[in-house]
Amino acid sequence: MSPKRVEKPLRESVFGLSGRVAIIAGGAGLLGPKHVEAIAAAGGIPVVADIDLASAEAVASSARKNFGVDAWAARTDITRPDDIERLMEETIARHGRIDILINNAANNPKVEGGSSAAFARLERFTLSQWQRDLDVGLTGAFLCCQIVGREMAARGTGAIINIASEYGIIAPDQRLYRLPGVPDDEQPTKPISYTVVKSGLIGMTRYLATYWADRGVRVNTLTVGGIENGQHPDFLCKASDRIPLGRMAQVDEYQGAILFLASDASSFMTGSNVVVDGGKSCW
Ligand SMILES: NC(=O)c1ccc[n+]([C@@H]2O[C@H](COP(=O)([O-])OP(=O)(O)OC[C@H]3O[C@@H](n4cnc5c(N)ncnc54)[C@H](O)[C@@H]3O)[C@@H](O)[C@H]2O)c1
Repeated sequence: MSPKRVEKPLRESVFGLSGRVAIIAGGAGLLGPKHVEAIAAAGGIPVVADIDLASAEAVASSARKNFGVDAWAARTDITRPDDIERLMEETIARHGRIDILINNAANNPKVEGGSSAAFARLERFTLSQWQRDLDVGLTGAFLCCQIVGREMAARGTGAIINIASEYGIIAPDQRLYRLPGVPDDEQPTKPISYTVVKSGLIGMTRYLATYWADRGVRVNTLTVGGIENGQHPDFLCKASDRIPLGRMAQVDEYQGAILFLASDASSFMTGSNVVVDGGKSCW
């Protein structure tokens, strides 16, 4: 006779996050609130850390209302180590643990709008803009990993997710951003700093994954493709043509990957890059 199999709902057994505490750094923009929802819907406790406190509080409040979880917000500038230390101390004081860190903050210039985007052209890209972009996207993520990851490593468990972009694995197709009637050297471009930040995050993920492999801290990258968000129809058409699935992402289409990487569903995974881009990087 075969042994009796104990039936457990799959979601509860491996995708559940009941009681797990998740810091979502840069959680108050377009995508962050969707990460917060994904965590809360699985029973986790989201801590919405953002430089924009009012928006972060609105996100936390809607997670409390819609999912009945103990979500809260903290004003945090991730370029400032003191802010992250304070965030971590408050999280430990409230919950006694940090299980998940999602590094979602970045300067993500919306060049597809066309306006005032010529600044991003390589020849005129200023050192101060380069430094601002690296400060938030790369140094900020490093500091969050260092400070929060240290706590996770000491407790022997944790999952870190670094949010990268398709532009961390392929070059931006600058033709997408071209505008009619604009001289070549005034055409908007996605800035070089964006690609450098996102490629850097992928390298940082690998470094940390191996560094903390023996301490129970898993570190993975989630590479996301472009999100449809009110762009001009001409841009949407060109962008969709470059994507095998024929469209940009809806804002909630990364929630499954977040839940996967945050939960025990990915327990044998570290140092990986999960690419969710509608197939764009295949072409
Ligand atoms: N939107 C897209 O189409 C897209 C595509 C690929 C990758 N991504 C990546 O996804 C992530 C989220 O993108 P988004 O479109 O939601 O961006 P967003 O600009 O809407 O949100 C970013 C959030 O980070 C916060 N932030 C900025 N500087 C900060 C700092 N110093 N400290 C703390 N918080 C800070 C902002 O206040 C904002 O709430 C980014 O890493 C972005 O690069 C987005």
